[in-house]
Amino acid sequence: MAVTLMIDRLTVTVPENTTVLDAARQSGVVIPTLCHFPGVSSPGSCRVCLVEVQGARTLQPACVTKVANGMVVKTASKTARDARRLSVELMLANHPWDCNACVRNGKCELQALAQDMGITEVRFPSTREPLPIDCSTPAVVRDMNKCVLCRRCVAVCQDVQGIGSLAPRSRGFDTIIGAGVGADLSEAVCVQCGQCAAVCPVGAIYEKDAIEPVWAALDDPTKHVVVQTAPAIRAALGECFGCEPGTRVTGKMVAALRRLGFRKVFDTNFTADLTILEEGTELLVRLQRAVVEKDPTVKLPMFTSCSPGWINYMEQFYPQLIPNLSTCKSPQQMFGALAKTYYAQKEGIDPKSIVVVSVMPCTAKKFECDRSEMNASGFKDVDYVLTTRELGQLIKEAGIDFMSLPDEEQDAPMGLSTGAADIFANTGGVMEAALRTVYEVVTGRELPMAQLHVAPVQGLQGLKEASVTLTGCVPAWSFLEGVTAKVAVAHGLSNAHTICQMVADGKADYHFIEVMCCPGGCIGGGGQPRATTDEVRKKRIQGIYREDEGRPLRKSHDNPAVQQIYADFLGTPNGHKSHELLHTHYHDRKRHPQGGFIIIWNILQ
Ligand code: FES
Repeated sequence: MAVTLMIDRLTVTVPENTTVLDAARQSGVVIPTLCHFPGVSSPGSCRVCLVEVQGARTLQPACVTKVANGMVVKTASKTARDARRLSVELMLANHPWDCNACVRNGKCELQALAQDMGITEVRFPSTREPLPIDCSTPAVVRDMNKCVLCRRCVAVCQDVQGIGSLAPRSRGFDTIIGAGVGADLSEAVCVQCGQCAAVCPVGAIYEKDAIEPVWAALDDPTKHVVVQTAPAIRAALGECFGCEPGTRVTGKMVAALRRLGFRKVFDTNFTADLTILEEGTELLVRLQRAVVEKDPTVKLPMFTSCSPGWINYMEQFYPQLIPNLSTCKSPQQMFGALAKTYYAQKEGIDPKSIVVVSVMPCTAKKFECDRSEMNASGFKDVDYVLTTRELGQLIKEAGIDFMSLPDEEQDAPMGLSTGAADIFANTGGVMEAALRTVYEVVTGRELPMAQLHVAPVQGLQGLKEASVTLTGCVPAWSFLEGVTAKVAVAHGLSNAHTICQMVADGKADYHFIEVMCCPGGCIGGGGQPRATTDEVRKKRIQGIYREDEGRPLRKSHDNPAVQQIYADFLGTPNGHKSHELLHTHYHDRKRHPQGGFIIIWNILQ
């Protein structure tokens, strides 16, 4: 039902249950906000969006106040402006005044609010004692001195990811956002996804920066520094330089990396294609053992293992399902292992001198590269991980005029890839890429270009499923003749929880399940340019699919560099060498029986 109201003398008609904030925005009226973030539940606590509603005894927060017929709203009256200004001044009073040296300088929402409100001095003294900075994890840093208690991090961790690592602790002026039952994030149940850092409006939560060690490696003439970039970077990096979300900047990104001094500009897409060969083979072997050999030890459905935040979730919340996980390393880690073996041998370079830098949309990749088992090459497979935001910063520090760069191509052989690898960037993409290859391998028939997309697994719906009945199978896979392969896709850990519980309860009759930790998949990763909303996710996904559709090769098994590496070095997918370098094992790391316990503990503190 439609509702008609007045906002600043404009007559506005919107659907019922719309908030005053959304109604104002739809009419072009700007109301400032801070704790509100699209897609994350709004606590209505910061009071930065206060407006006057005729007849109401007090000012109302526009972000949680619903419209009503005949409502008269004044957003810019002196009373509303003064109240909003007071809210921001009170936050500034307890905020460090070191903006010039803050990671969010120039990109801070509190700074922008103060500027827009014309605040040049604060009338109140600070009442806060300094707090220690939490650097305990390899992924994110928490500086609660800068926290404005907007609770976006709490909401995204609890409601979107279903983890509940973060919660308010203490009361009144003493309130801080605490991590788990301990003082530090490393003691909490945390998957390192960085979604808290992605929604933080100020410099209170941010990725642990690897820019300095990367500069040091680039400046060291004894080091051979190579770089890989995840597929999701190419449709988001441009946002650091003012481009619209989804703008593809692949060629400029390659040119910038070359100008930064990387000896080779490679591509995680190469090992994404390789992953499809390894993971697809693993799935087919599991199916063969289950269907033909009736092996009761085979675990199906098989889960994808590309997303390190998802792996952390599985290890901490569903360790009983670890046997269902593919043993494939993520494309990032496969790349590192091959850079220090295959590439080193091919080019006659001492692997000790090779430094592998990854550019990833994900803060959990920083945790993943530090895992003790990720050294199958005899060295640490991946040395440093930069997020998309850090790469943007690195390019700016180097004084590179990004937008005027020409388009350049990645280096062969580990920079060559197909469109199937591009779509690893978004939810459903790994599944679509796998189906393109598995279908052709099993049936021996070529999939026409027009039929490459698997629409049911695309889009931002939290849980998706698809099925395909296999007919005309080649002799090697004849046991699959007539089998209806069922697949499912989940993104965001609340959805991962749903599908894991279905599997644990024996209620999921799928063969293969893709799970990505972050909402939207890697394009929505915790290291991507801020702010990632669903609207931004959709634009980045469109950019990724355009990248795929513009490729001459769009199926992983058609990648000639992947075919070559099997011929020259690896042998066969899932063969001995592949197992040694490209596969791994995961561990039970369950520490706390329930996330809810942590929340209750925090509330009681
Ligand atoms: Fe509305 Fe914070 S944005 S109360």
